[in-house]
Formats: sequence, structure tokens, C-alpha cells
Amino acid sequence: MATRRPMVAANWKMAGSLQLAEELIQKFSRLPDISPDVVLCPPSVYLDNIQSKLEAKASSLMGKNLTLGGQNLSHQEFGAYTGEISGTMLKEFGCKYVIIGHSERRRMYGETSDMVAEKFAMAQRCGLTPILCVGESLAAREANRTFEVLSGELDAVLDKCGIVAFDNAVLAYEPIWAIGTGKSATPEQAQEVHAFLRQRLSDLSPYEGEKIRILYGGSVKSSNAAELFNQPDVDGGLVGGASLNASEFVTLCRIAS
Ligand code: G3P
Repeated sequence: MATRRPMVAANWKMAGSLQLAEELIQKFSRLPDISPDVVLCPPSVYLDNIQSKLEAKASSLMGKNLTLGGQNLSHQEFGAYTGEISGTMLKEFGCKYVIIGHSERRRMYGETSDMVAEKFAMAQRCGLTPILCVGESLAAREANRTFEVLSGELDAVLDKCGIVAFDNAVLAYEPIWAIGTGKSATPEQAQEVHAFLRQRLSDLSPYEGEKIRILYGGSVKSSNAAELFNQPDVDGGLVGGASLNASEFVTLCRIAS
């Protein structure tokens, strides 16, 4: 049985501040060692400053596994793509991870599953670990099409990159109907989908299926995190709103320990 290190990732989206980063880093530097991998995904404009803050506190952050991640990246390496950021730039600013295929990008910026697969491959080419987001709409769930939708999103990346590429990846199940609504999936709903996703990968490679971390995202907060994170196929959380409160986010990281 693979032992998967828990992970808690903060997706600040277009929010947060350098003051929040400072507060968070101060709190983490005073914590005893915690076991989850913690990934902070701020708006890209903050990365350089936060990387400097982390370097300045390196000694007191030893053992805290606090790293940086991007929220998106261009499917191109460089060039005339106004407003875009490349994986190389994210890497240069200290990122180890990058969120790929978030439902907000799929829905509001027209990212197709093929584009997501391109970005997944680019992230790995740039030395980043992709956090691949999949999730269904309320309409899909109510029509009993959840597994069909998730299979389509996952298979687009498998078809382009192959199962071996998932050796360096994290998966995140984010039901669209739970994002920002305050209404998370139940632990049973999350476990059912996580087990389905893990089995789909295990069918291609039992090793990769067992090894990959699958995070749950969608209204995670300190009141529901323990039940969600205790599910056998839930390996932590991808947290939005609750990550914008330093105390709440640190509490979630300790629950995941
Ligand atoms: O990527 C995480 C995000 O989509 C979840 O948002 O506010 O429901 O925790 P939230």
C-alpha cells in the first residue's frame, strides 16, 4: 500500500496580499514540524516577493514543506503572448507546482481539455509538478454524468501524456457546484469520486494509481476538513476561500498532518 504524504494547497485566485503572505509565513515559522506538503499558489505578481520572504525565513521553515505554486501557465514556452506567464518564469520564481485546468479557467477562459493537456505537458517540461483539476457541474451530477465528465477530462491528459506522466503529478477533484458555495461534497461523495479516479489510473498502472495524491477542493474549511481528509482516497485539499485567512489555513494544514 503506497503511503501518500498529505498535501494542502492554497489557491488564492485573484485575491490575497503580501501582508497575508507575511502573516502566513510568520505562523508557519512558529509551528512545530507538520507533515503535509503545503503549497501556496498566490497571484503571480506576488511570487517574487513571497519567494524572498520564504528565503529569509528558511531556517525557521525547515521541515515545514512550504512551497510555491502557480495558478496557471501558458502552453507556450515564450513569445508574443500578452498577459501570459510561462512555466520557466514560474520555476524562476521558486514554484514547484502549478494548478492546471481549474474549472474557472475552463469555464471563463475557454480552456478545453486538449488545452489543459498541452499545459500539463508544458508544466512538466518546465520542471513543474502539475496539479490537474477535474470536476463536474451540478447539472452533470444531477444527470448522473459525473464519472463521464471526469473521465473525459482525465483521459484527455492520459491520451496526450500517458500514464507515466502521472508519476510527477497531483490530481484535484473540485466539484464545480462546491466551489465558493460553502457547500462541500460530503465525505462519501468525495471518497466515491476519488476512488473512481484512482481506479481509472490503477487500471493503466497499479503503481501510479496507488502513488498519486488526489486532493479534494470545494468549500474546504476547518469544520469539514477532518472528515474529508480522513477518507482513504482523499490525500488533502485544494483550498480557496479558507486559505485567505492565515489562522484558518494553518488549522487546515494541521488537520491534514
Ligand atoms: O482551487 C480551489 C478552489 O476552487 C476552491 O475554492 O473557495 O470553494 O475553497 P473554495
